Amino acid sequence: MTTEQLYINGKFVPARTSATLDVIDPATTEVIAQVPNASDADVEVAVGAARAAFDQGPWKDATAQDRGRVLFKLAEIVRGRADELAALETQSNGKPIVEAEFDIADVATCFEYYGGLATKIHGDVIPVPDNAMSLALREPVGVAGQIVPWNYPLLMAAWKLAPAICAGCTMVLKPAEQTPLSVLALASSFADAGLPPGVVNIVTGLGEGAGAAIVEHSGVDKIAFTGSADVGKVIMRGAAGTLKKISLELGGKSPNIFFADADFTTAVEGALFGVFFNQGEVCSAGSRILVERSIYKSFLDAMVEKARTITLGPGADRQTKMGPLVSREQFDRVRRYQELGKLEAKLALGGGPASGPRLGRGYFVEPTIFYDVGNSMRIAREEIFGPVASVIPFDSEREALDIANDTYYGLAAAVWTRDIFRAMRVVKRLRAGIVWVNHMHATYVEAPWGGYKQSGFGRELGKWGVEEYLNVKQVYINLSEEPIGWY
Ligand code: NAI
Ligand code: MG
Repeated sequence: MTTEQLYINGKFVPARTSATLDVIDPATTEVIAQVPNASDADVEVAVGAARAAFDQGPWKDATAQDRGRVLFKLAEIVRGRADELAALETQSNGKPIVEAEFDIADVATCFEYYGGLATKIHGDVIPVPDNAMSLALREPVGVAGQIVPWNYPLLMAAWKLAPAICAGCTMVLKPAEQTPLSVLALASSFADAGLPPGVVNIVTGLGEGAGAAIVEHSGVDKIAFTGSADVGKVIMRGAAGTLKKISLELGGKSPNIFFADADFTTAVEGALFGVFFNQGEVCSAGSRILVERSIYKSFLDAMVEKARTITLGPGADRQTKMGPLVSREQFDRVRRYQELGKLEAKLALGGGPASGPRLGRGYFVEPTIFYDVGNSMRIAREEIFGPVASVIPFDSEREALDIANDTYYGLAAAVWTRDIFRAMRVVKRLRAGIVWVNHMHATYVEAPWGGYKQSGFGRELGKWGVEEYLNVKQVYINLSEEPIGWY
């Protein structure tokens, strides 16, 4: 077991109070580390460090090339430490190591992308009617507060750290209480990457404690949050007191729509991958599987048959295709929805906790498929964030779209068909920030990511991601010394 510290102003430091949080390995339920449960006083110090680094430190004079080099170096360091970082992800999140390795590769790519973008951020010259020049300058927004979830611990941190560094911000990041280890491990390389003290600060703790203190702090200029819609609403209220700029990437109940003409085998796998990947703990999970009536029965049967072959086990085992859920809390939550689903709809597979010699006391649940689900049922409306699929039949393109869009959420959607006309009609009418055609989950650092409706606002990744960390300053330059002539 390890004992961790906060990372503030370029150093690992103890918290002001001795309160700690246990980090658990969800495959065994053993405590693997203790991290500080930071208080308002710790957040005060971290924000102070970020503030000073932004207002006075060498960072404000760092050139775009300097910032780009830091990001390239971070990418290189992540690649060099990939095995260690992937192991930490699997240990505290539970995900299969093979998936964790992909996550860490994506972390490196994210730092690299924003390393390249740093030197391509520039403003505009706007033609104005008078003898004058109008400029729009792009400036870093200041100190960013960043609050991330546990499903992709280091990747969600990288999606926030990389564009903020790229823009020239300084930041205080709070990892999720369940999964703080990978970002703390990476922090030990921040100085080697060339980050001056105070530019990136990591504060561990609970949402209602350290998280809320970051959101409400008057020294923080912007909040970037990924997590539940409920907490997104709390953050919006908390940020209102100081009118901070905010971006929210919240949950979803994403429709994955299958028309009868789609390639059957590919589509069945796409349905399972959409909802069971990463134990279903994915904000864009295709948790509502809409299937055209003419293939409904055979599609469901094929899904069940294939899902039976999913190997559950500890994430560290390379054979594992589905690991445990992240925590006791998430296990209980998913178990409640499994029981609710049995009352609301019909059960085709799973429906309970999973046990077996390889599963020990871990937080494993069975991959679960409900069918004949009505879109008004709670299992079709509420984000479950676990391996629980709701299969819903439809009769027409129009009905599929009505069901797909009948949700408070709007993060992602997918449509499977060989008919290009239909695919494009459906793409146009889906109200979601990310739409896949004949795929689900492919994600690229170059392309924007974010939601419609109650899935939040603001975009991460690509050139959109850095916009969230930039302010626009309009500058007017008079080119004539003529008096204004008003008086
Ligand atoms: P959560 O939304 O409570 O936690 C996410 C992050 O927000 C964590 O770092 C947490 O410490 C922080 N947080 C919590 N309350 C806060 C507050 N009042 N002020 C500031 N920060 C706060 O998610 P939780 O409780 O772990 O999971 C509950 C459900 O949320 C899941 O079942 C899932 O439906 C959803 N969720 C969605 C995610 C997504 O990627 N969209 C990620 C994680 C959870
Ligand atoms: Mg919570």
